[in-house]
Amino acid sequence: MTLTRNDFLALDQQDVLAPFADEFDLPDGLIYLDGNSLGAMPKAAMKRAQEVIEQEWGTDLIKSWNKAGWFSLGEKLGDKIATLIGADQGEVVSCDATGLNVYKLVSAALEMRPDRRKIIMEGSNFPTDNYMVQGLIKQLDKGHEIIFVEYNDIMGAINDEVAVVCLTQVHYKTGHLHDMDAITAKAHDVGALAIWDLCHSAGALPVDLNAANADFALGCSYKYLNGGPGSQSFVFVAKRHQAIAMQPLTGWWGHAEPFGFERDYRPMKNIRQMNTGTQPIVSLALSEVGLDIFMRADMNDIRKKSIKMCDLFIELIEQRLDGFGFSIASPKQSAKRGSQVSIYSDNGFAIMQALIANNVIGDFRAPDIMRFGFTPLYVSYVDVWDAVEVLKNIMDEKSWDQPEYKRVGTVT
Ligand SMILES: Cc1ncc(COP(=O)(O)O)c(C=O)c1O
Repeated sequence: MTLTRNDFLALDQQDVLAPFADEFDLPDGLIYLDGNSLGAMPKAAMKRAQEVIEQEWGTDLIKSWNKAGWFSLGEKLGDKIATLIGADQGEVVSCDATGLNVYKLVSAALEMRPDRRKIIMEGSNFPTDNYMVQGLIKQLDKGHEIIFVEYNDIMGAINDEVAVVCLTQVHYKTGHLHDMDAITAKAHDVGALAIWDLCHSAGALPVDLNAANADFALGCSYKYLNGGPGSQSFVFVAKRHQAIAMQPLTGWWGHAEPFGFERDYRPMKNIRQMNTGTQPIVSLALSEVGLDIFMRADMNDIRKKSIKMCDLFIELIEQRLDGFGFSIASPKQSAKRGSQVSIYSDNGFAIMQALIANNVIGDFRAPDIMRFGFTPLYVSYVDVWDAVEVLKNIMDEKSWDQPEYKRVGTVT
């Protein structure tokens, strides 16, 4: 059936998530399909920023560590994130950067499997995960080896020599979704531990870490969780591991008695041990605003709308943009896809710049992928139609083929 713009307007009329769009501040006329890179700004973030800077920092100064709950903010946020990723209260803490948390968790997991040397990772994953583990095993110098495998070969590569399987649940380029339950079960069958990077799944789809029996997880808060640029990461450690799993960056915030100022490190035997040092409080405070929106939304509604938007986007690309050399890089089966659609195109970089110049923001990942992220809280169905129309226009008129759209900036 040929789709029309009215079909999309009708879907918006019935959309239970539509009212959430008013809670985000996006420039008029902009179609923002890059929440998988940097989430949109919640309107309430401005007020919260003013409050935390003027009152909590400016006026109350160090009193805010207690009065405003700064010292335990990471755990408070962690408990909110836990509800989105199938974790229990006390299993998640918001802290540090994503890459640092990969380092900490892989190190802790390797120590729990001292007789094994192999780590399974996906070579095409977002590189920082791989880089951090390469740095870690070089420093450990105990003969650990990363076995890089791709999507279809992962299950077959997990055997009894493997200490840790460390994967990103949704692939940053293609949006491919791993079967967390099956991979974790296979890892456990052979005696290995499973670590999940949820950068592209937290806030994008329902995640159930405890149903999957996952050991560890981490993720970022600046993408689907709308925490703000460079906002801190989060860490999940299953309760059963919290007294054993020791992270290597043993700063005072993870000490059993931080204000005892003892000479020697003694670990806190709960999730707080995953902290290293003083956390970026302004960032934590702002990211709570994004999380509070999620506390009022239903992840199942979010997933339902995300699947529908992605399916429609793929259908429109195939219906209306045939003959322009596009092919869909993401799985067409929604059960195997996160909340993004990626498209291969030889001219993807210039086409994406032309789209951005025409108020449709996605992004480009070298060498040939255009990424479009669908964030149900602030993207409408008609945005999907309109974005494809802008793309069609750019392709029909070949307006992307200009030097200004081929200039590569530092950040792509
Ligand atoms: C899977 C994955 N891991 C890690 C990162 C980034 O890590 P960091 O926040 O430490 O820069 C990204 C960023 O896009 C990512 O997609």
